[in-house]
Amino acid sequence: MKKKIGVKISGTGSYFPKKVLTNVDLEKMVDTSDEWISARTGIKERRMSEKNEPTSELAFRASVEALKFANILPEQIDMILVATVTPDMLFPSTACFLQAKLNIPSVPAFDLLASCSGFIYGISIARAFIESGLYKRILLVGADELTKITDWTDRNTCVLFGDGAGAMILSASYETDNILSVFLGADGSYSNSLFLPAGGTSNPATIDTVNKKLHTIKMHGKEVFRVAVPKMVLAAKKALEFSEKTLENIKLFIPHQANMRIIEAVARKMGISMDKVFVNIHKTGNVSSATTITALDEAIKIGRLQNGDIVELVAFGGGFTWGAAVIRI
Ligand SMILES: CC(C)(COP(=O)(O)OP(=O)(O)OC[C@H]1O[C@@H](n2cnc3c(N)ncnc32)[C@H](O)[C@@H]1OP(=O)(O)O)[C@@H](O)C(=O)NCCC(=O)NCCS
Repeated sequence: MKKKIGVKISGTGSYFPKKVLTNVDLEKMVDTSDEWISARTGIKERRMSEKNEPTSELAFRASVEALKFANILPEQIDMILVATVTPDMLFPSTACFLQAKLNIPSVPAFDLLASCSGFIYGISIARAFIESGLYKRILLVGADELTKITDWTDRNTCVLFGDGAGAMILSASYETDNILSVFLGADGSYSNSLFLPAGGTSNPATIDTVNKKLHTIKMHGKEVFRVAVPKMVLAAKKALEFSEKTLENIKLFIPHQANMRIIEAVARKMGISMDKVFVNIHKTGNVSSATTITALDEAIKIGRLQNGDIVELVAFGGGFTWGAAVIRI
């Protein structure tokens, strides 16, 4: 009988731009306060990319780190997948820009858009490609520059987001299988709850769309909050069930870093104590597709995870979309 192909996580990497925007900086831009932002979101500061530093640049830097970590050369990668809501351009894909930067022509490259759940969707896609035997080493990146689609006069949204990128290399293996389970979901009836109204085919860019600031994030914050908590709990429970593991087996729970209150509510409803929950939102803000992978990478780098540890990632985002994955490091 043919042996089943498993997936090994060969390495991770991350990159955040140098420039820091603190809550105190924001106090000078809109009617807000460090106290309000900290209490309502848990965010203290976020990173901001430069004008000449597109999403593919952050993706490139995170990828180089992941390749180094994995001890793999760029030419050993046979597919590139980038999860993003802030591509360099509407087309071609950010994955193609990344491919050119990595100088690995001919390798298939494409973007996927599942908002803040994009990286979890990406794990599922990469796993399916590897298990099918079609590809052997996939570079999966979650990269976003939300500060470039932010309305800096809207205090409801501008305090929440930041820029960053994380990368993971997933390789075919007959010895191990590190992706224990993935669960995905979406509900398109909420598409107007967290969105960017213009620039696509339903509302192409005009002077009017620019004047009305329709090229920036619009969000019904309370609705996002209300739906995010039960959907993240559902996804986390389902992925755990499919992995045939229990909470006791999970070394670290890594939720999407959107809001500290959402993270705490999900942990409470799951019955997970906060010392098992990884949080870095205070220094990153919400970096959308990049949150779970950059948090995972940080947890590995600072020694909170060791080889063999089991981790659960869970995310929620515009669409609405949600997903969770149980993986072994
Ligand atoms: C955005 C969010 C922090 C707002 O918190 P909230 O408790 O719902 O706050 P409200 O929207 O009820 O606003 C309460 C008051 O604070 C004000 N406010 C909003 N943003 C503010 C800010 N940055 N600084 C100060 N006051 C602010 C509001 O205008 C409102 O004032 P009002 O009562 O005079 O009208 C919260 O809804 C949230 O986190 N939602 C989820 C957002 C998210 O995670 N999105 C990404 C998901 S992937």
